[in-house]
Amino acid sequence: MYKCAKCGYTSAIKLGKCPNCWEFGSFVEDKQSSKPIKSKKKRIARWEVLDFDQNTIKDLYFPISERELMRILPQGIKKWGIYLLWWEPGIGKSTIILQLLDDILSNNKDLRIGYFSWEEHQAQISERLQRLNLENTKLGENLDIYYSSVLENVFTTAQAKTFDIVIFDSIQTIYSELIDSPAGSVSQVKFVSEKISEFSKKNGVTSFVIGHITKWGEIAWPKYLEHIVDVVLYLEWDRFGQYRFLRAKKNRFWPADEVGIFEMTLFGLQPVYDMKQRILEGIKTSVPGSVLTVGIDSGRPVLVSLEVLLNKTNYKYPKRTAIGIDSSRLDLVVAILERYLNIKLGYFDIFVNIPGEFKFYDSGLDLALAAAIYGQYKNKILSSDTVWLGEIGLGWQVLSTKLHQKRKKEVTDFNVVDFSSIKNIVELPGIV
Ligand code: TYD
Ligand code: MG
Repeated sequence: MYKCAKCGYTSAIKLGKCPNCWEFGSFVEDKQSSKPIKSKKKRIARWEVLDFDQNTIKDLYFPISERELMRILPQGIKKWGIYLLWWEPGIGKSTIILQLLDDILSNNKDLRIGYFSWEEHQAQISERLQRLNLENTKLGENLDIYYSSVLENVFTTAQAKTFDIVIFDSIQTIYSELIDSPAGSVSQVKFVSEKISEFSKKNGVTSFVIGHITKWGEIAWPKYLEHIVDVVLYLEWDRFGQYRFLRAKKNRFWPADEVGIFEMTLFGLQPVYDMKQRILEGIKTSVPGSVLTVGIDSGRPVLVSLEVLLNKTNYKYPKRTAIGIDSSRLDLVVAILERYLNIKLGYFDIFVNIPGEFKFYDSGLDLALAAAIYGQYKNKILSSDTVWLGEIGLGWQVLSTKLHQKRKKEVTDFNVVDFSSIKNIVELPGIV
């Protein structure tokens, strides 16, 4: 074995530059650790079977109880886990972290938490606690806030205070003095994130790392940061900034296929339990070309309205605009309708819109799209309590959708039209 004379880092081969302290030519042979280990005969006398207690699995998590948070983190927060939370500044990352911590503390009153921020001063974080009405709670008592940017200081403090949970706000502003480049640079972020991972695992600390995205929606650091952490969470907003969607891009402990919906209020992020009701209220006044359907967003079925507008075109080639759905599905459904229902959609510009910040790459919306286009073309209002579910094949047959039962379960109080109730789109009830 070889050892760095400066920092003690060991390696099986002689390295030119120490990956730990970056010293050049510091590796010397370490005779002590090179000595062969004397093999002990009968070291493993027999296999031992350990009793596995199912309860210990539960103990590996800090439970949470809020319903929308539990959609994403149903088991709770994993002890020793590293959670990355990222998106644009101002969306509510620091807010949701405080609310999540409050939730965890309601079940684990003795947890000690260190919040290290260089994004905001202690006073601003305390002010947020007040605004969220958490100042006089267990969280207010157990939370220590530091205005700090040097990684090594964060570790020293966190160890001295024996924190169970540490928040790094943000990865772009906390830097290591061992790296000679500015905070937020690729080499800083790489080193800092590796050290946070090492620190968490060695000290049994749960870490929340907050980060920003670039204006292109990319994580502003190398992709491998996503590999280092256990869970990547992100908060997105809808077009009007009213709702926040919490999603997991990666989760080592649970399938990452749910969405939690929140609304920013004067007193923090409130979970939204009645999204279905709100959507329905928004579409009470039915118009020709407006129908209901269920799309799948990150694995979660969501009831949405799909609207179509046809306008006589003034262009040589008619316009096709699709917001919220895949435009190639629109082309396909238009082609099928023209071919089999003999309607001349080529004279019309077609606009499709799904209100709300949803983006469905989902063939399960084909039938709703066909119904909306046809309803708008015939100027007919379709029944407002009918939900259209179905993929349409090129032979214009209506097929089952992916996760069909999950979609149907979402709309038990509606009349569902799908492949089981119609054989093909000529039979669209109420249209033809
Ligand atoms: P914040 O959590 O600071 O966002 P991030 O950490 O992602 O930058 O919250 C940002 C915005 O939310 C801020 O503009 C103020 C607003 N806000 C409210 O409207 N109500 C509240 O109760 C809180 C705490 C913040
Ligand atoms: Mg913040």
